[in-house]
Amino acid sequence: MKKIIKWGVIGSGGIARRRTIPEGIVPSQVADLSFVFDIDSTVNEAVANEFKVSTAKSIPALLESDIDAVYVASPVDKHFEHVIACAKAKKHVFCEKPLGLTVEQVEKMNAICKHEGVLLGTGLMMRFHAQHQAALNLVKEGKLGKIVYVRAQLSCWYPPIKGAWRQDPVAGGGGSLVDMGSHCIDLLEMFCGKVKHVGCMINNSVHDYKAEDSALVTMAFENGAMGTVDSYFCIPDNSSKNMLELYGSKGSILAKGTIGQVDTGEMIAYLEGDNSKYNAKQERSSDNGIEINPKPVNMYMAEIEEFSHAILENRQPINDGLIGLRSQKILAACYESARTGRIINFD
Ligand SMILES: NC(=O)c1ccc[n+]([C@@H]2O[C@H](COP(=O)([O-])OP(=O)(O)OC[C@H]3O[C@@H](n4cnc5c(N)ncnc54)[C@H](O)[C@@H]3O)[C@@H](O)[C@H]2O)c1
Repeated sequence: MKKIIKWGVIGSGGIARRRTIPEGIVPSQVADLSFVFDIDSTVNEAVANEFKVSTAKSIPALLESDIDAVYVASPVDKHFEHVIACAKAKKHVFCEKPLGLTVEQVEKMNAICKHEGVLLGTGLMMRFHAQHQAALNLVKEGKLGKIVYVRAQLSCWYPPIKGAWRQDPVAGGGGSLVDMGSHCIDLLEMFCGKVKHVGCMINNSVHDYKAEDSALVTMAFENGAMGTVDSYFCIPDNSSKNMLELYGSKGSILAKGTIGQVDTGEMIAYLEGDNSKYNAKQERSSDNGIEINPKPVNMYMAEIEEFSHAILENRQPINDGLIGLRSQKILAACYESARTGRIINFD
């Protein structure tokens, strides 16, 4: 039985080169990188030399090779075309988030991949962070009691850059909400289950490009919890600690820096069991909480390996195309809310 999945890459010069190839595909025992393609042939050549793999001269040439799967890491407005080309060539396809520009595109991507008998995966890799998984276990074990409020933050400094596709919603599908808020919303759904309705405000607080540089989402979940996501392109990197906060009737989990591209961060659980009592003076104990420190898991390797195993085992991947579709639908509802000033009932 085949034990190694042969990968190709479309859009080799960005996150593929920075993270997914060196951390995810190259060191993996179940993945092998064969060909890379980028529209920028100079960059592609450099990536191929860096990782000692072959260049493909075009997407058809890449897809004619004997690769099993393709990692699509091109700009968002190219995802639809690239994913469909892979599916029609009978290659499994793992595409970066967001899967597409619109819900309609992503529905078609899912349908065509299914019709062609190939798997579709979504690069929402933060689900695999070891501390997020440890927190999820505590939530599932009921250690926080009933979850009442959750917050996820992912912000950075992203000044105007001429020609940057992320700064034009026609190419990126939106700004900070789509780019970074998508990870946060997905994580909160992992912890709380399905979102029931969303409200959203977006703004250009500092930068004057066409995409929003500020996004604030409020959500209500089917389980009764409420949540917020804040994603800004106009807060200096070191000033945003990318907080994850989960609060329940029996405790909380507070994390700093686990949301992002690295496998580390600080996470502390405050588990009070059934001991909470009314304290009229609102005194706080000096309890420093429990550090949640599992062995780190590289998220880029985890997403590539999980998808590779799904191919080998002929099953759906954990981060499948439906997770990408769900994300796209919530993002669309957020933009509708921002446009209309209304709370959008979801599903
Ligand atoms: N999960 C994560 O941690 C993470 C981080 C960054 C980006 N992303 C996602 O990855 C995708 C790419 O983002 P990025 O930051 O790497 O962008 P980028 O602009 O840095 O890199 C994109 C690459 O695609 C190439 N490209 C452009 N058009 C192409 C085409 N038609 N065919 C082939 N290649 C083409 C560009 O030359 C460039 O090398 C986006 O969907 C983004 O949201 C995910």
